[in-house]
Amino acid sequence: MERREPAAGRLEGKACVLFGAAGGIGLETARRFLEEGAQVLIGDYNADACRAAQARLEADGFTGRVDAARVDVTQEAEIEALLHRALERFGALDVVFNNAGIVGAIGPIIETEAEHWDATFAVMMRGVFLGVKHAARIMIDRDGGSIINTASIAGVASGILPTAYSAAKAAVVSFTRNAAAELADHRIRVNAVCPGIIFTPLMHQGREAQAEAVMREIQPWPDRGEPRHVANAVLYLASDESAFVTGEAHLVDGGYTANGLLRVHPLPGAKTRPDYAGISYGMTGQPRQVRRLP
Ligand SMILES: NC(=O)c1ccc[n+]([C@@H]2O[C@H](COP(=O)([O-])OP(=O)(O)OC[C@H]3O[C@@H](n4cnc5c(N)ncnc54)[C@H](O)[C@@H]3O)[C@@H](O)[C@H]2O)c1
Repeated sequence: MERREPAAGRLEGKACVLFGAAGGIGLETARRFLEEGAQVLIGDYNADACRAAQARLEADGFTGRVDAARVDVTQEAEIEALLHRALERFGALDVVFNNAGIVGAIGPIIETEAEHWDATFAVMMRGVFLGVKHAARIMIDRDGGSIINTASIAGVASGILPTAYSAAKAAVVSFTRNAAAELADHRIRVNAVCPGIIFTPLMHQGREAQAEAVMREIQPWPDRGEPRHVANAVLYLASDESAFVTGEAHLVDGGYTANGLLRVHPLPGAKTRPDYAGISYGMTGQPRQVRRLP
C-alpha cells in the first residue's frame, strides 16, 4: 500500500494576525489557527482581554507561537505597526483576519448622532479597509496571502438592527469583493465571513436566554451558533483548501438568511420605535453612552 506522510496542520508554519481577537469569534479563531500549526498575533483594543487571551492560550500549550498586543483599528499607524510586529516576530505574513467589531450607534435614525455613526464605521469599515491596505502592502512583496474580513448577515439581509452596524457590514461585503478583484494578480485572496446569531457577549449583551428564544423563532437550524462554527469557516478561508475562493461572502448562519421572509418573525421590539439612543462600544471596555428618549 502507498505510504503517505502524516498530514501537517492546515496552517502549519503560517504567520497570522487577528484583529479584534481577544474574545468571542476572534479568540476561538486564534485557537483553531494554533491547533492547525499557525503562529498567531492577536491585536485588540482591550488590553486586559489581550493579556488574558494570551495567558489562556499559553496555558493550553501554545507557548512560543502566540503573541498579543493592544491595537485600535481606527488608527492607521497602529494597524501598520502590528502587522510589522508579526513580520519581525514570525518572518512572514500569510493570513490577516479583520474581525474587530462593536455594536455601534443604536436607536432610531432621527435620534442618531453623526459622530456615533462615524465611530461605528471607523471600527467596522475603516478598520477593515486599513487592515486590507496594510496587509496587502506587505503580501504584495511576498507570495500573496489570505485576508478574511468579518461582515455579518446584517450586511446581506435587510431588517436587521442596528442600522449603522448593518450599513457598515454591507460596506464590508462590497469592499471585500472589490479588494479581491484588485489583489488577485498578486495572489492575495480576500473573502468575508458573514456570521448569523453567534452566542458571544457582544450578541446577547448578558441576556442569553432571551437571545436563545429569539434564535429559536427565526433560525431554521436547531443548534446555537457558537464561535467555533465561524472559526472553522475562517480556517477554511485562511488555508490552501480555499485556494480558488476569493471575493466570497461566506454565510455561517444556520440557515437564517435562507429562511426568507415567509417564516421570519420580527424580533421583539423590532417594529416599534426604540426608547433609547446612543452608542455601545461592545467588549472594548469603553462605557456605553445611552440616553432615554422622551
Ligand atoms: N456574535 C454575533 O452574533 C455576530 C454576528 C455577526 C457578526 N459578528 C461580528 O463578528 C466580529 C466578532 O464579534 P464577537 O461576537 O466575537 O464579539 P467580541 O466583542 O467578542 O469581539 C470583537 C472584538 O473586537 C474588539 N474591538 C472593538 N473595537 C476595536 C478597535 N477599535 N480596535 C481593536 N479591537 C477592537 C473588541 O475589544 C472585541 O474583543 C465582529 O466584527 C462582529 O460584528 C458577530
